[in-house]
Amino acid sequence: MTDPAHDAETLRERAVTTLTTARARTTLLTSCVKDPDLTAQHSPLMSPLVWDLAHIGNQEEQWLLRTVAGREAIRPEIDGIYDAFEHPRAERPSLPLLPPAEARHYASEVRGRVLDLLESTAFHGTRLTEAGFAFGMIAQHEQQHDETMLITHQLRKGPQALHAPDPEPAPLLTGPSEVLVPGGPFTMGTSTEPWALDNERPAHVREVPPFYIDTTPVTNAAYQAFIEDGGYDDDRWWTAEGWAHIRQHSLHAPLFWRRDGKQWLRRRFGVTEVVPPDEPVLHVCWYEADAYARWAGRRLPTEAEWEKAARHDPAGDRSMRYPWGDADPAPEHANLGQRHLRPAPAGSYPEGESPLGVRQLIGDVWEWTASDFLPYPGFQAFPYKEYSEVFFGPEYKVLRGGSFAVDEVACRGTFRNWDLPIRRQIFSGFRTARSGDV
Ligand code: AVJ
Ligand code: FE
Repeated sequence: MTDPAHDAETLRERAVTTLTTARARTTLLTSCVKDPDLTAQHSPLMSPLVWDLAHIGNQEEQWLLRTVAGREAIRPEIDGIYDAFEHPRAERPSLPLLPPAEARHYASEVRGRVLDLLESTAFHGTRLTEAGFAFGMIAQHEQQHDETMLITHQLRKGPQALHAPDPEPAPLLTGPSEVLVPGGPFTMGTSTEPWALDNERPAHVREVPPFYIDTTPVTNAAYQAFIEDGGYDDDRWWTAEGWAHIRQHSLHAPLFWRRDGKQWLRRRFGVTEVVPPDEPVLHVCWYEADAYARWAGRRLPTEAEWEKAARHDPAGDRSMRYPWGDADPAPEHANLGQRHLRPAPAGSYPEGESPLGVRQLIGDVWEWTASDFLPYPGFQAFPYKEYSEVFFGPEYKVLRGGSFAVDEVACRGTFRNWDLPIRRQIFSGFRTARSGDV
């Protein structure tokens, strides 16, 4: 332990800061509406907000107070209610959930004990506490549920409850619309990032042939051109499952969009507005992203291509933590952390671009990739199979890069998200790619 970053006081501070940041966001998301909106189910796809709140506390209690510190359960009778695998989301409103005041009290009781525990924790000796991993895992878990709760707020009907300043207008984009990523091996995943989750491990070498990738995510204007060209009525662009899905559910545009004469409107956190042409498209499912790419004569990048575009440093011939280097994200790098309630216009964040000039890989919109969610060679579930392992397989597609709703603690060049190809209530967009000269 000669590395000063591993110094116990530094780790303790980082644990306290990330847990406190997450709780401030949870509090905002669960106090900006009245109690009936916390207990209501706003969509069958989502839990009542008050379920997320107590589930956050329950996971924290189970991992930090019971597993790490060996304490007795505070309220053993509630574990089953907040077990995500025992009860699918649609069922959760009918459970005997803790009412809002009790859920708040429980989560803050757990947090108080965790902060006490942190005073005396040694950050080594067990794999769970090494470099503060368990605390980082729990801060990431809370932030992931904060993004889930933000999705619930977006689905909720009713007046605006959340407010945030808009991002700056984009600088003029004068560069090319795609870049060539040279072929050759690169290191995917990580074995050294202390708070990386199990599915990001271990680091391993991938051979990636040359490919071109868009310098920005696909915009609303570009996606509208696909719609106006009859993209949703032409089965040439769709996979068989995608075509069947959009026919069955009569999909004609991204979720939350509505046509108004010649223009498109969208609903965003309780406000209806004209769809901004230069913003990355949001709320599309994998089938829509895949069909757009085919219409454009292109394809979605594979997960390995996406990560190589985001982490490969051709000059140093190594993989970096982020497109801009190894420094933790700062506001000039990326649109993260719910600082804004929308993606920034395409071309934003020049300081966050990759060495080859690819922008907005981190933040703004989750980017669908062509790849199924599969384990890396040498994967080991840690500390529980239900985080990743039970989801591995061809039914889930990988998303990368994080959205405006992702906190930096849960966002890295190696971070992997996944969902079903029909899902579009999530903050999902995409960029396209094509194979290099062959
Ligand atoms: C990684 C976003 C797919 O929300 O289902 C939260 C994160 N896992 N609690 C999810 C998660 C357990 C997970 N995703
Ligand atoms: Fe969870």
